[in-house]
Amino acid sequence: MRIIITGTGGRLGAAVARHLRDRHRVIAWDRRAMDLREPERIRDHFDAVQFDAVIHCAALTAVDYCEDHPDEARAVNTEAPALLARICRDRGARLIQVSTDYVYDGRLPGLRRESDPTDPLGVYARTKREAEEAVLGVCPDFLVARTSWVFGPDRSSFADTILDRARRGGDCGAIADKWSNPSYSHDLAAMLEALALNPAATGIVNLCNAGGCSWLEYGQACLDIAAEAGVALKCRTLKPLGLHEIPAFIAPRPVHTSMDTGRLAELTGALVRPWREALAEYIRTYHARSAA
Ligand SMILES: NC(=O)c1ccc[n+]([C@@H]2O[C@H](COP(=O)([O-])OP(=O)(O)OC[C@H]3O[C@@H](n4cnc5c(N)ncnc54)[C@H](OP(=O)(O)O)[C@@H]3O)[C@@H](O)[C@H]2O)c1
Repeated sequence: MRIIITGTGGRLGAAVARHLRDRHRVIAWDRRAMDLREPERIRDHFDAVQFDAVIHCAALTAVDYCEDHPDEARAVNTEAPALLARICRDRGARLIQVSTDYVYDGRLPGLRRESDPTDPLGVYARTKREAEEAVLGVCPDFLVARTSWVFGPDRSSFADTILDRARRGGDCGAIADKWSNPSYSHDLAAMLEALALNPAATGIVNLCNAGGCSWLEYGQACLDIAAEAGVALKCRTLKPLGLHEIPAFIAPRPVHTSMDTGRLAELTGALVRPWREALAEYIRTYHARSAA
């Protein structure tokens, strides 16, 4: 397949490009190659290449920045994917739009299914939800893949921050009253390939490692795995914090957005491995080695 991947300067796009490169013809576009704030130039980029599918990973992902820059957020997160959808439809190509657990109504505990109600709370979440509607409005056979708490080697994330702090002995706490699924970019890349190859993969799918946890459990697992792997840590136990205690959080965040992976397993024909197992592989590969 000839696959265009956007956002390849980012955490997920870089992992997807690396994963697909050996088996497909990959066209990797980062922000320098195509700026999504320039709609008048976007179509030209696509006109210049042949492609069968687009995996659209690029987005304005800093949720608090989005809250203060709603016009840029709408242009990048909603209007650009809507245009990509029209381009893909016109060219007979498949589109996978990467979305977020933030679109769910996170009021009740439990695992969110794709058919559960949405209630995006802030600008980031609203612009991503509007993109989902726009993309599936252009073609119901496109796929929206909702992911969450992505970690991986290509860009620092919560897992790396918590480990760096614990190594340096800084302030060691994590939020105990928000739940989701930590997800390894390496696993997501393999699942996105399977989804791109499966014509039955249409509509909405949750795209994450299996099992939900709180941010605190996620952070504590980082420390436990790193300690077991021999990483020297000055802090071994995280103190619980409340979501509303974080003054830097401007955008509202949904609370219960752990996602069910039943449809993902069905569409990829593969077992979705538990987040803790994926996290252990990541930490042993990228943190334990660098600490040795
Ligand atoms: N990370 C998570 O925990 C998480 C959770 C839920 C959903 N998601 C979704 O997963 C997808 C991938 O996110 P990620 O984790 O890979 O985030 P990321 O590391 O922030 O990558 C996003 C990429 O989009 C690029 N981008 C931003 N504005 C752009 C513009 N105007 N034109 C072109 N490119 C632009 C960024 O470029 P720069 O590198 O230049 O900034 C960055 O490389 C996104 O759709 C996101 O909404 C992520």
